[in-house]
Amino acid sequence: MINNNTKQQILETVRIEEVVGDFVSLKKRGANLLGNCPFHNERTPSFTVSPVKGFYKCFGCGKAGDSITFVMEHEHFTFPEALRYLAKKYSIPIEEEAPTAEFIEQQTQRENLFTVTAFAEKFYQDYLWENEEGKAIGLSYFRERGFTDDVIRRFNLGFAPDKWDGLVTAAEAAGHQQELLEKTGLIIVQENKKYDRFRGRVIFPIHNLTGRVVAFGARILKTDPKSPKYLNSPETEIYYKSKNLYGIAQARKSIAAFDSCYLVEGYTDVVSMHQAGIENVVASSGTALTIEQIRLIGRYTRNISVLYDGDPAGIKASLRGIDLILEEGMNVRVVLFPDGEDPDSYAKRVSTEELKVFLKEQAVDFITFKTKLLLSDASGDPIKKAALIRDIVETIAKVPDAITRSTYIKHTSDLMEMSETVLIGELNKIFTSTR
Ligand code: GTP
Ligand code: MN
Repeated sequence: MINNNTKQQILETVRIEEVVGDFVSLKKRGANLLGNCPFHNERTPSFTVSPVKGFYKCFGCGKAGDSITFVMEHEHFTFPEALRYLAKKYSIPIEEEAPTAEFIEQQTQRENLFTVTAFAEKFYQDYLWENEEGKAIGLSYFRERGFTDDVIRRFNLGFAPDKWDGLVTAAEAAGHQQELLEKTGLIIVQENKKYDRFRGRVIFPIHNLTGRVVAFGARILKTDPKSPKYLNSPETEIYYKSKNLYGIAQARKSIAAFDSCYLVEGYTDVVSMHQAGIENVVASSGTALTIEQIRLIGRYTRNISVLYDGDPAGIKASLRGIDLILEEGMNVRVVLFPDGEDPDSYAKRVSTEELKVFLKEQAVDFITFKTKLLLSDASGDPIKKAALIRDIVETIAKVPDAITRSTYIKHTSDLMEMSETVLIGELNKIFTSTR
């Protein structure tokens, strides 16, 4: 661990204009410096750096912080990596310090949990490839769904034996403690009875950003109205649902390289898109999108495309989550799949080339998408139309950049055949009442 003395020295030495200046061309403007924001696309500079305060702030997308957060965001560094980077830049020697006992204990506990999840991942994976039951049931299931062996391996997919103690027996034989197995949620202990949580299901390991396995999703093989289609690990010390996105470890490089990210709903959508050669894709795994998940994507790109299967109820339920993306100053596009298809089924049905063309041609910006969706509901009903206007303008109000907002107002006014003045009036009402 880098000791406090070094941290202090780094904070006192760094000059924000030099740190930012390595990446952004800045011009003097009074006491501050001004440049094009590196975190979102803009033509007129709204990215301000204050040498006096040691701070940057973008008046377009709202990003703000100090030298450390700047390199963390811009270079995708962790906190310690950012400190080391700055220390190197200013030739500050790093003094390491022994971590506290409490810290060590916490780390050890987390490491122990990681050891258990890694064991389980390998157990399920070996079972899929080497065990007769695993091959006959699990592997043939994946192959029937059209997954190649290569992609099955790339996502470390596995199979959980169809018995009560497959994992727990193997894990204890390998020396893993019951308490840790229970803490990872892999086994359930009730009244001195213990049994595997996942049985007779195919396994989708869930990895964190750095590629370590933290949890599992498990799909049933037959349709059974009495059991849920998917079972998931509970939250643990190493797995926070709201902060995780399925596929992020496999996707991060590609998201940064393409400067865009596809957001899908399911595990199988991620796997199939990879198989089709599209790797900048992550899944929210059926839950409502959270701000932490959006910021996780935001470390690599400002551009998100949300891929929907054509289920209107599901789409309406997720509109709020997308407002959150806009609020972060990110650009959101939407691709709607034909009725009854999801990215997985579609990717299997068409060629990679067709899929890429489809994603490109069908993508519409979110506000247009929402306007058209709600307009089709409100046709010919003036009361519904008034509510719709307010709804859309509320969404536009989330966009932090004023120029982008006015572009949306203009565009929406065309779509709704409603004068811009009325929309701007509504927008101003929202601003005066809430800010
Ligand atoms: P397939 O039917 O195998 O193609 O899976 P899918 O990924 O298309 O599933 P679906 O579109 O039905 O659901 C999307 C995602 O929601 C899944 O990948 C899961 O993460 C989650 N999900 C679906 N069903 C359940 C369930 O019964 N319980 C839980 N906890 N999550 C579910
Ligand atoms: Mn599906």
